[in-house]
Amino acid sequence: TGYITYDPGFGNTGSCASAITFMDGERGILRYRGIPIEDLAENATFIETAYLLINGHLPTLNELNRTRVLLNDFSLIHESMQVFFQNFPRASHPMGILSGMIMALRSFYPDMGEEDINIHFLYLLSKVRTMAAMSYRMSRGEKVVYPRHDLSYCANFLNMMFDSPVHPYIVDEDLVRALNVFLILHADHEQNCSTSAVRVVGSSKAPLYASIAAGVSALWGPLHGGANQAVIEMLEKILKEGATIDEVIRRAKDRKDPFRLMGFGHRVYKTYDPRAKIIKKMCDKILEKLKIEDPLLDIAKKLEEVALTDPYFVDHNLYPNVDFYSGIVLRAMRIPTNMFPVMFAIGRLPGWIAQWKESMEDPSQRISRPRQIYTGLPQNPFQDIMER
Ligand code: CMC
Repeated sequence: TGYITYDPGFGNTGSCASAITFMDGERGILRYRGIPIEDLAENATFIETAYLLINGHLPTLNELNRTRVLLNDFSLIHESMQVFFQNFPRASHPMGILSGMIMALRSFYPDMGEEDINIHFLYLLSKVRTMAAMSYRMSRGEKVVYPRHDLSYCANFLNMMFDSPVHPYIVDEDLVRALNVFLILHADHEQNCSTSAVRVVGSSKAPLYASIAAGVSALWGPLHGGANQAVIEMLEKILKEGATIDEVIRRAKDRKDPFRLMGFGHRVYKTYDPRAKIIKKMCDKILEKLKIEDPLLDIAKKLEEVALTDPYFVDHNLYPNVDFYSGIVLRAMRIPTNMFPVMFAIGRLPGWIAQWKESMEDPSQRISRPRQIYTGLPQNPFQDIMER
């Protein structure tokens, strides 16, 4: 059967060739299509970044305008789909609702052709944002707010989340910019768990929508996209129970205790996550501008300070990752904690699409089918039921 390499969690296995995202984990470098993440966070919008990832170049003014028009055209959700999901049990996690909705999406639009796959990409980008806001409104038993043609992608999302007849939503440009940056930072990260899930499902030639729904499911877990929710829950618990910073750090180091410092550590980065640097700065800026005092930010900063000088964290190369401060920014936007992984999913969507497209266009890609090291009995004779 040949020689099989044992590589748990695929830490050393290159599963594909990709021209989308470059990461250098030792030096803390992240580039989309060669452009440094810092430059995109400073200058681009999320939609420009999504275009860049999917199409390989930044859009011209004409390309961007056409994209904007189509995103607006596709932003509504089929009324029967709304009725269908309105009856989803209230306590459901929004990630479960979102994954289910993406799976169901294609069925509600049976007449859509397959000719232009790019249209499906825009469909997903536009509708996932509407569905995310819808799932939040539904979970609160509130009326769905329709998308508005006069608002940008991010402003539209915030308006669909928070507008009400009693308190009309007033668009705050600082928050809109912060949301753009949050989404840009999450837009792609080469072969992470959810992107690999999208590629693996797509490799069997399952439909695009099924592959993307698989990405949402993989992202849900607290070791991946659910980490931003887990960080805030951890900080809230520390605040509520009055645990000292040293106690928390001691627990995180105790190998017998399953507790980990959420928002710390990364498979690839062995230095400070470049996304965490950007989001930490933005966190300070936005809280100062909105005059918000969040006690969770103080706890997070103290935890970071102690961890960065602790020999265990230093020896293990454990630094804050993107999720450590992102939740505090989302809280400033009034996004509820259980929606945080959904925010990550909206951000990661262009990466999933770009990687799916690349895999479909790559003639060397085969069905994903890892091997194993068999550890069971070599042979086991069948026993009659009366003799077991
Ligand atoms: N707190 C305490 N110890 C840790 C942590 C942590 N957050 N992360 C890793 N370690 C230790 C781990 O116990 C192990 O120690 P030892 O070698 O002594 O047994 C060592 O570091 C290596 O850990 P690992 O689990 O083998 O590393 P991995 O590359 O498989 O996992 C990770 C990476 C991100 C899942 C992990 O660091 C972790 O669980 N972090 C907390 C969850 C988190 O913040 N996830 C978000 C990741 S960034 C967003 C994204 O793109 O998904």
